[in-house]
Amino acid sequence: MNFPALDLLSVETLNLDEFLGHLSMLSLSLLLSINTLQLFCTIPPKELRTLKSLLGKGQHMAASDTVPLLTPYKMGKFELSHRIVLAPLTRQRSYGNVPQPHAILYYSQRTSKGGLLIAEGTVVSDTAQGYPETPGIWTREQVEAWKPIVDAVHEKGGIFFCQIWHVGRVSNYNFQPNGQAPISCTDKPLTPQVRANGIDVVTFSTPRRLRTEEIPLVVNDFRTAARNAIEAGFDGVEIHGAHGYLIDQFMKDQVNDRTDQYGGSLENRCRFALEVVEAIVDEIGADRVGIRLSPYASYMESGDSNPEALGLYMVNALNKYGILYCHMVEPRMKAVGDKVEIPHTLLPMRKAFNGTFIAAGGYDREEGNKVISSGYTDLVAYGRIFLANPDLPRRFQLNAPLNKYNRDTFYIPDPVVGYTDYPFLESDSYTNNE
Ligand SMILES: Cc1cc2nc3c(=O)[nH]c(=O)nc-3n(C[C@H](O)[C@H](O)[C@H](O)COP(=O)(O)O)c2cc1C
Repeated sequence: MNFPALDLLSVETLNLDEFLGHLSMLSLSLLLSINTLQLFCTIPPKELRTLKSLLGKGQHMAASDTVPLLTPYKMGKFELSHRIVLAPLTRQRSYGNVPQPHAILYYSQRTSKGGLLIAEGTVVSDTAQGYPETPGIWTREQVEAWKPIVDAVHEKGGIFFCQIWHVGRVSNYNFQPNGQAPISCTDKPLTPQVRANGIDVVTFSTPRRLRTEEIPLVVNDFRTAARNAIEAGFDGVEIHGAHGYLIDQFMKDQVNDRTDQYGGSLENRCRFALEVVEAIVDEIGADRVGIRLSPYASYMESGDSNPEALGLYMVNALNKYGILYCHMVEPRMKAVGDKVEIPHTLLPMRKAFNGTFIAAGGYDREEGNKVISSGYTDLVAYGRIFLANPDLPRRFQLNAPLNKYNRDTFYIPDPVVGYTDYPFLESDSYTNNE
């Protein structure tokens, strides 16, 4: 019998393992494409079942070690070799807001060829900070200090985006130039909060409500930061529009109490975020711009009465700018019995967004593989477990055990401890656990 697919792979020249590997990859890619296609058009259920079962058979018949998270993906002009993204992680080790040489090792440890890394939240101006020792990107010294860090990631073949950040009212006089009040869309203060260590209490100063005519100046700080990030060598920027910081403060109706064109309706509340997007797209090009959003989160007293409407409004508006990616944070995980479950509420936004979609929040290997193969997202960002496992893609490939993260050392200023001392998988001979 003539079997053209076998001819295509010129089976005589391959050994059995190679052949099964090709077949497995081919069926998985087709399966992923079908799942994605299914999100956007209707395939009759019977045909869909048949197609999937045929391809599924191909996958199982072939190598059982094809891991959906480890399949390649083209994000705009970037050829990613896998779907595992380093989530932005504030580490508070940039003394005096200047990135330090120890970050070279930290980021290069977490780099794999063709892997996407998002740098920690990096403040856009002297009014943008609210935590000790966070890096900035508004001075020449900061730009120069980022360069060797970015170079190290590039040398290992990584793709590196800088998360640009303004904390807004999540700050106090001590972090502000001349001890002034932090700025926000509102003058409502935050209540004091207990730190992650469960002991220390952080207090926030009453913010000053930005005047309408001052808002373009803050938009411009983001624009300058994006230009500086590109000058430092980053491949692009991720706008931090999540977690109760300045952009999120404008978007969420629990915080924004303005009466000008930046408050009230959904359109008005999203205006500031979209002006930042527009300015940055104009400065560095849409193909280098991503944004992180957390419509469902209510960190820092920044919740919204209709998160789905907010998320949908934003992604539809973002489509007009054609930005590269939208990175969305899942709502907090829910305890269901003795298992913790991710609510998976991002699908409407994923469907509506035209660019690359990144999901984050509570994912492990199994859950990540599930959401990639179902087409729920294109990429998955990992925070705490990537922090503690510099070789996370390799561990996922081998289904190897993971190091546990130590919450106590997340934010200490030590240049090594809890930072670059998490061990790599030891032996090259570690065998696949699948
Ligand atoms: C130490 C630490 C620092 C973080 N810093 C940032 C940050 O700078 N920017 C941001 O958007 N999210 C930040 N996050 C949130 C993570 O990016 C991620 O969304 C969160 O940890 C949930 O994902 P995970 O369950 O994979 O850890 C931080 C989280 C941790 C644990």
